[in-house]
Amino acid sequence: MGTNSQRARIGVFDSGVGGLTVLREMYRQLPNESILYVGDTARVPYGNRSAAEILQFAREILTWLCQQGVKMIVVACNTSDAIAIDQLCAEIEVPILRLILSGARAAVQQGKRVGVIATPATTASNAYRLAILEADSTVQVWQVGCPEFVPLIEQNQIHTPYTRAIALEYLTPLLEQNIDTLVYGCTHYPHLSPILRTLLPPSVQLVDPAVHVVAAAAQELDLLGLKSTRPPLPTRFCVSGNPDHFRQVSVQWLGCTPLVEQVNLTETVGV
Ligand code: DGL
Repeated sequence: MGTNSQRARIGVFDSGVGGLTVLREMYRQLPNESILYVGDTARVPYGNRSAAEILQFAREILTWLCQQGVKMIVVACNTSDAIAIDQLCAEIEVPILRLILSGARAAVQQGKRVGVIATPATTASNAYRLAILEADSTVQVWQVGCPEFVPLIEQNQIHTPYTRAIALEYLTPLLEQNIDTLVYGCTHYPHLSPILRTLLPPSVQLVDPAVHVVAAAAQELDLLGLKSTRPPLPTRFCVSGNPDHFRQVSVQWLGCTPLVEQVNLTETVGV
């Protein structure tokens, strides 16, 4: 692979600010990589949508990212991973790295009684349960769909009594099963970790698949000779919705105010 490919950006996509938890890991583990972050904020949340819609949105975004010349795509959206990526992998020419496989493998290293919190679409797909059981069939898995979390996080309602009450409601069935491990099955949810941690016994291990998918991406870059060895370009942030809203919500997690472009993701796929 030539220097140009090594210098190309890695595409990271989510429906909104959830992928920033993956981006944070990329900055930590892959400090030389330049990144193109895309959030489909005009259509968030994905997790309450039909499989057909999620497939269409993911196809549009993957196509758009390829048109931007990315060298690899990290799917920072579990919902897209669960519903769409099996089918879309064959259509896309750049390597695609996926959260659920990485998260499931990490979970079985941690415990035997695993809870997964995820969007309703991810939960209904059973993608986490299947991936965890494939990694270790002796592990028990309980999944809870959390429809209110993503809208609350996108509206920056994190430290409110309502969010805490909803979080307790979602965690209660898992606590009743005495889980020893909890997987963040949606990339938005690590943004709630200050709340969730106070509701869980200290013995419960938290698994953030972002850590593991980025480690897998680092390995893949090495293997393919695509790793950048020079300092990165500033991250390019693109959203389909209101750039000001994204800028305002994301500043707390990025530690700086990003430059955000608005882009049209819907004109990429030919009819
Ligand atoms: N952050 C995404 C996920 O990991 C999508 C959440 C949503 O849009 O509902 O599932």
